[in-house]
Amino acid sequence: MDTFELMDEWGPEKVVCVSDRRSGMRGVLVIDNTARGMGKGGTRMSPTLDVQEVARLARTMTWKWAACDLYHGGAKAGILGDPRSPAKESVLRAFARALSNEVPSEYVFGLDMGLGELDAAILVDELGDRGAAVGLPASLGGLPYDQLGVTGFGVAEATEAAAHEIGLDLSGARVAVQGFGAVGQAAVERLGELGAVVTAVSTVCGAVVDPDGLDIARLARLRAAHGDECVVHYGGHLDPSVVLTVDTDILVPAAREDVVDADVATGTTARLVVEGANLPTTPAARKILFARGVALVPDFIANAGGIVAAAHSMDARHSPFTVDPATVTAMVSAKMRANAAEVVRRSLARGLPPHETAQEMAQDRVRAAMAARGQIARS
Ligand SMILES: NC(=O)c1ccc[n+]([C@@H]2O[C@H](COP(=O)([O-])OP(=O)(O)OC[C@H]3O[C@@H](n4cnc5c(N)ncnc54)[C@H](O)[C@@H]3O)[C@@H](O)[C@H]2O)c1
Repeated sequence: MDTFELMDEWGPEKVVCVSDRRSGMRGVLVIDNTARGMGKGGTRMSPTLDVQEVARLARTMTWKWAACDLYHGGAKAGILGDPRSPAKESVLRAFARALSNEVPSEYVFGLDMGLGELDAAILVDELGDRGAAVGLPASLGGLPYDQLGVTGFGVAEATEAAAHEIGLDLSGARVAVQGFGAVGQAAVERLGELGAVVTAVSTVCGAVVDPDGLDIARLARLRAAHGDECVVHYGGHLDPSVVLTVDTDILVPAAREDVVDADVATGTTARLVVEGANLPTTPAARKILFARGVALVPDFIANAGGIVAAAHSMDARHSPFTVDPATVTAMVSAKMRANAAEVVRRSLARGLPPHETAQEMAQDRVRAAMAARGQIARS
């Protein structure tokens, strides 16, 4: 594909392809649309990477930032290569040097497939600027957002705000959650704190159901000791899929894609579905839920806690102070609540399905920023 074919009304604004003979490094930086702010998105390393893939991911970031109402634009960087190669460090250093005109003024490295905290540290070291990457190890001032469970915490915050929009009080509402991993557990714990009655939880090993509410602390202890087997040790011998069909007010799929299918959508008693996982609802199921009047918070709104935290990292890059986790969770809470409520409200007002509503919200915001800058006609 010709690189010019990637360019449409939104972007990309800049595509920088780089290579280095000595290390064999080949990579690309795509800055998609910066109307709302500096381009930001992770840096990946993969043996099958191509420019088109990086451009598509950069465009996704343009919409994600705008849908979450955060003032960044879309960007993504990629290195073509095996992340397990012994030459990784020299390739990373060559990539950083090759992009020294763009980083950190126009792009900041971040973590994505094939890159970890120590790789971010290498990129920062090569450019001699702690602000050249986010996702740094704690020894360089990074905060382990995954361990803090920001995504699951955000899913729960979004759930309460969306429930409020449809006149459902989360306190006392029954919630069924598929998955008790990084996202599921943090979501369940926060939902419990917010007064929800978590009646059903599943892992790949089985499900536990208790109409009076599960003992969340016990389940968490069992997960720490037994991982996915926690549900079996809790006493659950049910098929994992029962969580999707159990009587509930709210359903939170937080494990796999395509699990809420047409049958689940037709049969569920839930008034609200909150997509903790990526792509858990099939397109057919989305239509059925919408026709049945079941509210839904789309994945890229509900599980965006990590990107809110990433935006905070961008902001904190040059701070000499250790990041306070409470500051991050407060930001995640505020953003997740506002976004979830807006999607549900706007979907109801416009009679538009939630995924389309979120996409429309994002495009409206980017278009407004482009118009404000005079890049397109002001309507
Ligand atoms: N971790 C994050 O920060 C993050 C951010 C955004 C989106 N997500 C998405 O959230 C989802 C979950 O990610 P995670 O990080 O919690 O993964 P994880 O591996 O930590 O946990 C996955 C959980 O799902 C369970 N599971 C798998 N198959 C199941 C099945 N058929 N039935 C019931 N449970 C099943 C596993 O047993 C486990 O409890 C994925 O779609 C992921 O892409 C994660």
